[in-house]
Amino acid sequence: MDTTAEQRSARRLSFNILRYNPQDPASRPAVQRFVLEEADGMTLYLALTEIRETQAPSLQFDFVCRAGICGSCGMLINGRPGLACRTLTRDLPADISLAPLPVFELIGDLSVNTGRWMRAMSERLEAWVHSQAAEDLEAMEEVMEPELAEQIYELERCIECGCCIAGCGTVRMREDFIGAVGMNQIARFRLDPRDERSDQDLYQLVGDDDGVFGCLSLLGCHDVCPKSLSLQTQIAFLRRKMLRSALER
Ligand code: SF4
Ligand code: F3S
Ligand code: FES
Repeated sequence: MDTTAEQRSARRLSFNILRYNPQDPASRPAVQRFVLEEADGMTLYLALTEIRETQAPSLQFDFVCRAGICGSCGMLINGRPGLACRTLTRDLPADISLAPLPVFELIGDLSVNTGRWMRAMSERLEAWVHSQAAEDLEAMEEVMEPELAEQIYELERCIECGCCIAGCGTVRMREDFIGAVGMNQIARFRLDPRDERSDQDLYQLVGDDDGVFGCLSLLGCHDVCPKSLSLQTQIAFLRRKMLRSALER
């Protein structure tokens, strides 16, 4: 091990974790401190697992894939939304504060129910391919231009982790605001030639203050998206298109 690596692994990390169990009437929100020796290549997932195994068996947090794919490990890391499984402790100061993502229903400690929020948003936006040919697999599997498939795939990289929602000030003011994740969905279905909805149909779903016109361009979403989606571009594009179509009516 080189000197730098030795120095890094010798760090003592202090984890200040906001703990609260809403299911327990006796529970009160409180920050609990845990100290760990930093290991080489340690992620927050590994650190939290070690804390749970050695110091706090009741600590709640969510992980499924540990590879930045499932979107379940979003949390506030030193105040910034991010994925715990993709965050290396060596990129953080020795004092690390962890809290659950705001906005979403708290299950306990660092675990939140993003699924309920995402489902409600997807239902409002009817986020599925609308096609008469939906039963006809051959029609659904018709070859698509590779460039177009690539564009759709790019928007489909969203893992619904909720970081963009947690990082958006507008969501705190508008309960039904669809956020960048919702606008990304609309941009995605707009591109899909299998979806028979017109641009107007799609714009109607997001053409109000809970959609594109509620967005204050705060761009926290763009800054924190762990998949580096071009949210700023998508939002600006939708807004331009919708303004133009409103003017042309
Ligand atoms: Fe997460 Fe980015 Fe999708 Fe938002 S747009 S849910 S930050 S992957
Ligand atoms: Fe929110 Fe992103 Fe708009 S942070 S206000 S959705 S630009
Ligand atoms: Fe799946 Fe982190 S555990 S994204």
